[in-house]
Amino acid sequence: MSALRTPFSLNGTTVAYDGAPGKRLSEALRNDLGALDVKVGCNAGDCGACTVLIDGEAVCACMVPAARVAGAKVETLAGLNGSDPLLIDLQQSFLRHGAAQCGICTPGMLMSALALVRAKPRPSQAEVMDALGGVLCRCTGYRKIVSAVMEASDLASQALAPKAGKAVGTGVQRVDGMPKVDGSERFGDDLAPSGSLAVRVIRSPHHHAGFRLGDIDGFVAAHAGVRRVLTAADVPGRNCFGTIPPFADQPVFAESSVRFRGEAVAAVVGDADAVEAFADEDFPVSWSVRPALLTPPEAEADGAPLVNEKRPGNVLTNGLVERGDVEQALAASDVVVEREVETSFVEHAYIEPEAGFARRVGERLEVFACTQAPHMDRDGVAEIMGLAPEQVRIVATATGGGFGSKLDLSLQPYIALAAWLTGEPARLAYSRRDSMTSTTKRHPAAIRVRVGATPDGRLTGLDFFGTFNTGAYASWGPTVANRVPVHASGPYYVPHYRARARAIHTHCAPSGAFRGFGVPQAAIAQETAFDELAGRLGIDRLEFRIINALHGDTPSVTGQVFETGLGIRQCLEALRPYWQEARETTKKANASANGVRRGVGLAAGWYGCGNTSLPNPSTIRCGIRADGSVMLHQGAVDIGQGANTVVAQIFADALGVELDSVQLIGPDTDITPDAGKTSASRQTFVSGNAARLAGEALRQKILRLANVSGAADLTIGDGEIILIEAGGARRHVDLGALAIECDDYVLASEGTYDPPTRPLDDKGQGIPYAVFGYAAQMAELEVDLALGTVRLVKFTAAHDVGRAINPVLVEGQVEGGIAQGLGMALMEEFIPGRTENLHDYLIPTIGDVPPVETLIVEVPDSHGPYGAKGLGEHVLVPTAPAILNAIRDATGGVISKVPATPERVRAAIGAAQARARP
Ligand code: FES
Ligand code: FES
Repeated sequence: MSALRTPFSLNGTTVAYDGAPGKRLSEALRNDLGALDVKVGCNAGDCGACTVLIDGEAVCACMVPAARVAGAKVETLAGLNGSDPLLIDLQQSFLRHGAAQCGICTPGMLMSALALVRAKPRPSQAEVMDALGGVLCRCTGYRKIVSAVMEASDLASQALAPKAGKAVGTGVQRVDGMPKVDGSERFGDDLAPSGSLAVRVIRSPHHHAGFRLGDIDGFVAAHAGVRRVLTAADVPGRNCFGTIPPFADQPVFAESSVRFRGEAVAAVVGDADAVEAFADEDFPVSWSVRPALLTPPEAEADGAPLVNEKRPGNVLTNGLVERGDVEQALAASDVVVEREVETSFVEHAYIEPEAGFARRVGERLEVFACTQAPHMDRDGVAEIMGLAPEQVRIVATATGGGFGSKLDLSLQPYIALAAWLTGEPARLAYSRRDSMTSTTKRHPAAIRVRVGATPDGRLTGLDFFGTFNTGAYASWGPTVANRVPVHASGPYYVPHYRARARAIHTHCAPSGAFRGFGVPQAAIAQETAFDELAGRLGIDRLEFRIINALHGDTPSVTGQVFETGLGIRQCLEALRPYWQEARETTKKANASANGVRRGVGLAAGWYGCGNTSLPNPSTIRCGIRADGSVMLHQGAVDIGQGANTVVAQIFADALGVELDSVQLIGPDTDITPDAGKTSASRQTFVSGNAARLAGEALRQKILRLANVSGAADLTIGDGEIILIEAGGARRHVDLGALAIECDDYVLASEGTYDPPTRPLDDKGQGIPYAVFGYAAQMAELEVDLALGTVRLVKFTAAHDVGRAINPVLVEGQVEGGIAQGLGMALMEEFIPGRTENLHDYLIPTIGDVPPVETLIVEVPDSHGPYGAKGLGEHVLVPTAPAILNAIRDATGGVISKVPATPERVRAAIGAAQARARP
């Protein structure tokens, strides 16, 4: 296609675009005109991340050919910064409300909102939802975004910055919020040097196949601009990666056969246009398709071939927790309920597909990419490259959502190889299809649970058996299989218990970590069985849970007795008034219902923070420079959940300085100590404790130096520390007079924290986690009996977080987690080969998430920093079962497979009606 000059106005300046006229406007803006604030999440009009204004109208730039804007006025977020008063109001309102989490959707949201408020300065909720309906957000649950837009013109005064030592417990704005709302945040695809080589991964279109590569040299010679093709033969180290070293089994490039659709066999490196110019079919590879095992029953059938030759029976691993004699207990129980439940693959669907670039610097390799685990990435890349870990530097870019999947390596090996072998920087941004076909998913589960109780509602025993489809490679399958049995009882006292979980290999994309590591699937079976049991006993569903909730004298199913921080009862009690009111409302609504039935359901959950009975340390470093800068090396990756802010709040209070005086140095394996991975809801608890220790140690050093008491107030800045004693005496430390202690710090310290756990024995007895968090949620909804559609009316969520370090961020986590949970409950089903884009795979939109009322419960845990526990994963645990219990309350229909699509809901209603017939 010939180039054409396309003059148009970009943020008030006339530009003449010289590229191909058919190029997407989003690409032209980003790649040719430097507008990196325009984000790309799908290139298909599905996500809205690329929204810009064309002649004032919000439009997806990925769906507009560049030539189409000739003569038009194009506006992007960064171009309007500081110049548009309405945008300034919106940006400030987003910050006040905590409406930006990871921030990848924020430019699209803000531009859509700007178009709206220019026309309607005080829009209604319906107008906001309508205007922003085309932009997806996977983090926030949308409610804070809606409030931020509706209240943008309120000009509410900024919350005052907390005083020194008082940051914990206040809903301060994110310390890293401004770049998210002004478009200057740089994600994985925003940092590659211009002229970087592009990498395109060639993937299997088949679930299972043998393959032969053809004439690679001929292919390179025939395609101008293609530099080379990478295959397994080019891997200098080990052609294998995985998150748990003893189980690592996934090849960077398959060698002769592929085990899932989307598996990589080669990568083409060259100029950007050249690597995109050829069709998949033109790449020289021939396939011999083999029968595929897509479900555990197929993989476990007699004579089934092995997905992995080293794993007999296609069993990756088994998990077990056993206490007492469950068979005898159930046999002696007055009432026993049995439930079978199936769940589906769920895709993480973060709006930022995996992206980054790598460069060779002498004999070192540097990788800049979105990630949840920089140090793990460093070790994995080093092994693949045959380098020492010290030769690899990983710098985490801003990460546009992760939810577990960005714990695994994805694009890093390909850009690392390309950069190392060519000596030139190499970049790669996964397409949405690449992201969805090749990265990990939530495990589909088939669960059978039997629960018994006495007539007065006391649980006697619970037997749980779960089979998890772990896909072709191990990823986090062993973690899921071991974490589930610990949690499958829920936060209840169950005297006799057996939980078995198995991870079974199939020819599907690897299942891995996804917000909850299998616990949300287990909770669906257990919490819906509890509703049935309460119903059979004629006991109120909330009371049934309160009767059985763990308390200080009852051991958990692993024998752990909690002396501190056990907040499940408080969560359930917090729901009581809401439950009573909702039951009344439901009764009244259904008295006059005609074709639509209202229901209310609840569910509880718990979640252990950090690794299961394994070391799980975090280290945080800090220092003060001679000029008075207070630097915090904060390596706990913030993927939107707020670790940068929470860890800084804890550190500031421990040191005793104002939060504003703390500057962050982000995750970079060269300069930031290992704060562990952002997973298992561990960063507030574990890295928060490390930050507290680092801050306290630095404070002690300063106090000793100045020879003042522990109660002295500190002010650090302008080359000095001023200390004021309780009685008013003043001391002064001249930082310029101090010798450098390390790096460029005159004073420095470090804190390391590793949670105290104990190994589990062969029956799963021990102390798997030092800290658990607790939750109870209530869903109110309506079901159209004829259509089977579900409309959520409201969620009420009580969460025990120990201490809310930042209440606004707590609410954000709750609302975002509920949005993901309702997606899992009602609409999300990844089917390999069928739902590999955001058009066919549905995630909740702004119209799907109901109002959420968050009840923050604070039962401090003595292990947590200032009593705090983790939260991120807890939120999603009770959401789906609360919805299913509400559907049952409304209709009598028992859902046995999620998502509860209209078809499945209709079938469940039909079955309930058939059961009710005499
Ligand atoms: S990138 Fe344009 S709509 Fe998703
Ligand atoms: S904040 Fe919206 S996708 Fe992350």
